[in-house]
Amino acid sequence: MIDRFRSLFALLTLSLLFATDGMHAQQTPSLATSQQIQQDAGDPWWKHAVIYEIYPRSFQDSNGDGIGDINGVTERLDYLETLGVDAIWITPIYPSPQVDFGYDISDYTAIDPQYGTMADFDRLVKEARKRNIGVIMDFVANHTSDQNPWFIESRSSRTNPKRDWYIWRNGKGPGQPPNNWLSWFGHSAWQFDPRTDQYYYHYFYREQPDLNWRNPAVQQAMYNVLRFWLDRGVAGFRIDAVSRLYEDPNLHDDPVLPGTNAYGDPNIEHKYTDNLPEVHDSLRVMRKVVDAYPGSPVLISEADEPNITELTKMYGSKLDEVQLPMDFQVADVNQLSVPKFRELLDEIEHNAKGGQPYFFFSNHDQDRAWNRYGDGVHNDDIAKLMAALLLTTRATPQLYYGEEIGMATTPPTRKEDVKDPSGKIGWPKEKGRDGERTPMQWDTSKNAGFSTADKTWLPVPASYKQRNVAVQEKNPDSILNFYKQLISLRRSQPALRDGSYDSLNRQDDQVLSYLRKDPNSGEAVLVVLNMSSQPKTVSYDLKSQGMNAAIVKPLLSNPRESVLSMPLNAVHVAPFETFIGIVQ
Ligand code: GLC
Repeated sequence: MIDRFRSLFALLTLSLLFATDGMHAQQTPSLATSQQIQQDAGDPWWKHAVIYEIYPRSFQDSNGDGIGDINGVTERLDYLETLGVDAIWITPIYPSPQVDFGYDISDYTAIDPQYGTMADFDRLVKEARKRNIGVIMDFVANHTSDQNPWFIESRSSRTNPKRDWYIWRNGKGPGQPPNNWLSWFGHSAWQFDPRTDQYYYHYFYREQPDLNWRNPAVQQAMYNVLRFWLDRGVAGFRIDAVSRLYEDPNLHDDPVLPGTNAYGDPNIEHKYTDNLPEVHDSLRVMRKVVDAYPGSPVLISEADEPNITELTKMYGSKLDEVQLPMDFQVADVNQLSVPKFRELLDEIEHNAKGGQPYFFFSNHDQDRAWNRYGDGVHNDDIAKLMAALLLTTRATPQLYYGEEIGMATTPPTRKEDVKDPSGKIGWPKEKGRDGERTPMQWDTSKNAGFSTADKTWLPVPASYKQRNVAVQEKNPDSILNFYKQLISLRRSQPALRDGSYDSLNRQDDQVLSYLRKDPNSGEAVLVVLNMSSQPKTVSYDLKSQGMNAAIVKPLLSNPRESVLSMPLNAVHVAPFETFIGIVQ
C-alpha cells in the first residue's frame, strides 16, 4: 500500500516537473510515466484507500478567527497519518460568498482568503504527500455563485457573450416562473431578474445559478478547472451534485406527488432535472481529462441515486466514467436492519460489473451516523459496528471528520443561531445542516482545541469535554482506537484488502455475516455483526465457499473479550458485538 502511494506521489511529482505552462502539463508525460500509468491502472490506489472527508471550516483553525483553514488541516496531517487515511477530500475552499459555505463558487482556480492562500494549499499538498496522503478537491460542476464574474456578465444583458453560460428563460406570464421545477432548498427553482426581464434556473439556493452544460464553452471552462488542480498535484475530485448537470431543454413540468415537503412545497419527482442521459457524456470527458494525468487520479461522484441501476450507470458502460460513485442507499438505510444491509451489499456486489463500490455513513449534508444508527443506549458499540461494516467490505470506505470519535449531531436550538440557509427557510421542521458541521473535538482545552477564538463560527458541542481525540487516544477501548485497528487490519489482511465478498447465513435477520477470501492464499476472514440487542450463537457451514474450516480465530472484536478460537458451528456474539476472525 505504502509502496503504491510512494509510486503515485513520485508520478505526481514527475508530472509537476514536466508541467511547462501549468494548464498543459497533462499533454507531456514522459514515456516512463505513461508505462507506469498503465501498470497502476490494473490495481489503482483508490481501490484500497481509506478516504477521509474534511469540512475545512470546522476541522482546525490556525489563525484564531473561529473558522477552520488550510494551515489547520496541514497541522493535523500527523493525526490523519496515524489514523491511517490515504486521501482527504476537502469540501470547497475556493473564493465564495459562503452562502452555501463554499458550494457557491466565485472563482474556481483560487483559494478563499478565509481559508488561506494558494501557497498554503501547495504546502498542504506537499506535506500530505510526504505522509502518503492524497488531496481530493470538491468539483462543484452544476452551479456557480451569483457573484462569479461569469454570472455577473451573463445577467448583464440578453446579448452578453456569457448569457448562454447559464439557463435563462421567459416566465409563463407576469409573476409566473417558466415551469414547476423546485429548488432542493425550497420553493421555485427559477429566480426572476428584472434587469433583463427573464428567469434564471437554480437547482440549489438562488445565489447558486446553474451552469448551462449544453454550452461547449462552459464544458471547456470546467474541464480546465480540473486540469488546473491536477497540475497542482491533487489526487482527484469529488464531483458535487453531478446528476443535476443537465435539464430538459423543453422545460416539461415535473410530476407532482402527494403531500408537501419540509418547506411546504408540493412533493415533486425531479424527473426532468435529474439523471438526464447527457450527464454520462460529460462524465466520460471528465474521466479522460483525469486519465491523462499520472497516478490514477480518482473521480468520486455525489449523486443520491434512487436505485442500483442508476448508481451503476455512474461507472460507465466501459468503466469509463466515475471510479467511485457514492452509494447513498447503503448510507441511508437509517436503521440497523440486517436484511436491508445484506440486500444492498449484495446488490452492488452483483451489479457493479467490475466497478468498485464506495461506502460512507456520514457527511456534511446529513445527521451523523452516531445518531442515525444509535439506539440512544448502545451508541458507542453501534458506532463500532458501523465502522466495521464500513471498513471490512470490498467497498472503498469514506469517513467523515469526527466519525472516528463518535461525534454526535448537535443542531441549533434557536432559529436565530442557524447558519445554513436551508435551516432558516425550513425552520423548525428542517433545521439545516449545522448540526453535522460543528467543530472537530480534539481535546479538553478551549473550544475543544479547534480554535483560540472567543467565538467559533458554529458552537463547539458541550460533549467535547468527554468526547475528544486526546481522551480517546489514551483509551484502548475507544471508538478511535477501534477505527485505527480496523484500518490497519484492512491493510494487513490480504483477504480484507483484496478478497472476494460472500454473504453468509442469508436467512438470519439479526446478525449480518460475510466472508472475505483472498484468492491467492485461500485465507478467509469472517465478519460477524450482531445488529441486535440480544446475545446470539451463530453457526457457519462454509462448504459452499469451498472451505472445510472448523474454527474461527479472533482478529478484532468489540466488546473486547480475550476470546479464544470458536468452533464455526457455535460462534457466540454479545449484543451489538462486532467480531472479525480468520477461519481455519
Ligand atoms: C451538494 C453538497 C451540498 C451543497 C449542494 C449544493 O449536495 O454536498 O453541501 O449544498 O451540493 O452545492
